[in-house]
Amino acid sequence: MTQLVFATGNPHKIREVREMLDGQFEVRGLRDIGCPEDLPETSPTIPGNALQKARYVFENFGVNCFSEDTGLEIEALGGEPGVRSARYAGDDRNPLANMQLVLKKLQGETNRKARFYTVVALILDGREHTFEGIAEGTIRHEPSGTGGFGYDPIFQPAGFGVTFAEMGEAEKNAISHRGQAVRKLIDFLKGLSA
Ligand code: IMP
Repeated sequence: MTQLVFATGNPHKIREVREMLDGQFEVRGLRDIGCPEDLPETSPTIPGNALQKARYVFENFGVNCFSEDTGLEIEALGGEPGVRSARYAGDDRNPLANMQLVLKKLQGETNRKARFYTVVALILDGREHTFEGIAEGTIRHEPSGTGGFGYDPIFQPAGFGVTFAEMGEAEKNAISHRGQAVRKLIDFLKGLSA
């Protein structure tokens, strides 16, 4: 079975992606190859960070790998938190504090439009490929739901009456930013072996 390292230290993301791959590829985490989990992500853009993380793993460990970077882009905040999504409220990457800061900044704001933007970067035999996914939606006035992670409790995907945190994992994957980008990755990998 083809082995790929998913260059993330986030166990939620690894679980989401493993569920989507349905056993077709063996996905290993950074811990499995003895790589530190805090990878450099100093680029000012989402695609830049995705590539930076994948390059780090490929250059230092010589394995085929993919990484992903995601940002929540809120229209009324000029695209913030964007590339700063993980550390929006501080370097401790506290998801609750991040959500509270978003809600505070949007107080009294009627434009609640937002989107999650994901870029998956794959390095396969030294060649780089990128795949994108976007989930449009709105920011709720208060958090709701206990599933998912990060900003899920305040993000309601377009066309749904619930937040990502109120959906099951498979339901979220079917429409999410990461789901779309990972499906493109899977289609690409399948195309290679066809
Ligand atoms: P990163 O891609 O790990 O740098 O994540 C950036 C930030 O976006 C973190 O605060 C994550 O918690 C958040 N994030 C990434 N993906 C999701 C998601 O699917 N739902 C909610 N928050 C997310």
